[in-house]
Amino acid sequence: MKKFIVIGNPIEHSLSPKIQNFWLKKHGINATYEKEKLELSDLKKLVSRVRDGEIDGVNITTPFKNSIIQHLDKAIDFTPNLQKLPPDTYWGSSGLPHSVNTLFKKDKFVLGANTDTSGFLQSLNVLNINVKDKSVLIFGAGGVVQSIIFILKIQGVKKIYLSNRTKSKAEDIRLDHVNNNNKNIIEIIEWESLLENPPEADIIINATSLGLKKNDIIPCNFKKYEKKIFYDIVYNKKENLPVVTDIFQGTIFLGDGIGNGNYVRNGAAMLILQAAAAFSIWHGFDPVKEEITNFDKTVEYVFPDYYKENLNGN
Ligand code: ATR
Repeated sequence: MKKFIVIGNPIEHSLSPKIQNFWLKKHGINATYEKEKLELSDLKKLVSRVRDGEIDGVNITTPFKNSIIQHLDKAIDFTPNLQKLPPDTYWGSSGLPHSVNTLFKKDKFVLGANTDTSGFLQSLNVLNINVKDKSVLIFGAGGVVQSIIFILKIQGVKKIYLSNRTKSKAEDIRLDHVNNNNKNIIEIIEWESLLENPPEADIIINATSLGLKKNDIIPCNFKKYEKKIFYDIVYNKKENLPVVTDIFQGTIFLGDGIGNGNYVRNGAAMLILQAAAAFSIWHGFDPVKEEITNFDKTVEYVFPDYYKENLNGN
């Protein structure tokens, strides 16, 4: 029996086992997928476990998406639907992913791939968000922001405003993604200026971990935004009801977006689509593309209320 795991710290909240086991069962694949809480010092051994065949594949979550890279034979941008892109659109100055969320073995090598890129790209399609020639304000500068900016640039975004509590991290990301031809595409916005002077933007993305707790407030004057798109990468909350309804139950960020004619979505679709990309690396087919209705079925299973609000007849 094949063995797959997701590692992180903390790991209790991870929905990956629920999603991956759903597909394993559905497709009659003889494999297990479980959670393991690891420490930084366990990462080297983890890679040996994959090399030795004890584990067939691993998902990596916070906070190890970057620290795992040094232990791998190679980190690649493997995601199938990105392979067709020209090489100069690949990651940052190093040409390699800055974060890896999927490990797999090829011949004797342990490789790491990033599937957040694919997940984000496909989520834009599923959620009908068109970023071409649009201005996007992003909160956060963690690993997932690298993936988001990578895709936004490929999709022809006009301008990216990047704001993070720790400004230097935003600056590092900016430097990674700009060159002489697109110097002004990313502008850093002071976190402290958001309340008084938020930038003009068509799409506002929360990629910080803020939003799950009561006091998780992004200090921004959201009232400024009318008929815009609010997209929260955070997907889970107590009731796992990710979409704003009449009785609002989304994240706090999405609560800020509600009203004013804004279109408000959370990260449920991205979560499932990045998981599907990992699944296809391990099992050789995309579990949500196999059948045209399969994405809906998975969403219905993982987030029943999201399904009701978004995909069932809407
Ligand atoms: P990921 O890899 O999933 O993007 P991460 O690297 O842990 O996650 O990044 C978390 C993001 O949430 C960061 O942008 C972090 O801001 P800092 O770079 O200043 O740490 C942001 N974040 C977390 N808690 C925050 C808080 N209380 N206020 C503001 N930003 C916060």
